[in-house]
Amino acid sequence: MKKHVVLNVNGEEHDIEIEPNRLLLHALRDDIGLTGTKEGCSIGVCGACSVTVDGRLVSSCLTLAIACQGKEITTIEGLAKDGRLHPLQQAFLEYGGFQCGICTPGQIMAAKALLDGNPNPSEEEVKEWMSGNLCRCTGYYKILESVMAVVQNKVRTEDLLPRERIEARIQSLDVYKAEARTHGSKSHG
Ligand code: FES
Ligand code: FES
Repeated sequence: MKKHVVLNVNGEEHDIEIEPNRLLLHALRDDIGLTGTKEGCSIGVCGACSVTVDGRLVSSCLTLAIACQGKEITTIEGLAKDGRLHPLQQAFLEYGGFQCGICTPGQIMAAKALLDGNPNPSEEEVKEWMSGNLCRCTGYYKILESVMAVVQNKVRTEDLLPRERIEARIQSLDVYKAEARTHGSKSHG
């Protein structure tokens, strides 16, 4: 039987009617409409569904929504503030920390949870912490570089950019140019 549940997500309350076994992942995406949190493995292995609950990093695919009542849930949609990207979002953009983007919200939420507790981790500490977040595209180095750019204060957050400028910025990154060259040579080969 469905229950009435109030979830506080990114500072806003959401009243929803859900089954007691509804997972937080599905409540966020399908009942509340916040689709930034992604579903990968569905069994707590890949980290794509990472969010924080009262500041603690959790896999939303393993967390019951009903157990999160009265707690503060933060998702990727809650990071940009006052028209500015969170420094981690800016860093992933500037340093090419993503390709397909499926793992990216989870990567950023995991990195945020780390830096909230330890703003100055070593590269080894970042690697170890982020080892619970799998990526099938980047080879991980760009993710590490993005997080370390924030640790080393190399990132300046800008006003939220219009979509066309973000796309142009992504296409200007060396890693994507190399990718385009590879595909271009294949199609002409
Ligand atoms: S979808 Fe939750 S850990 Fe993979
Ligand atoms: S960017 Fe594609 S899985 Fe990580």
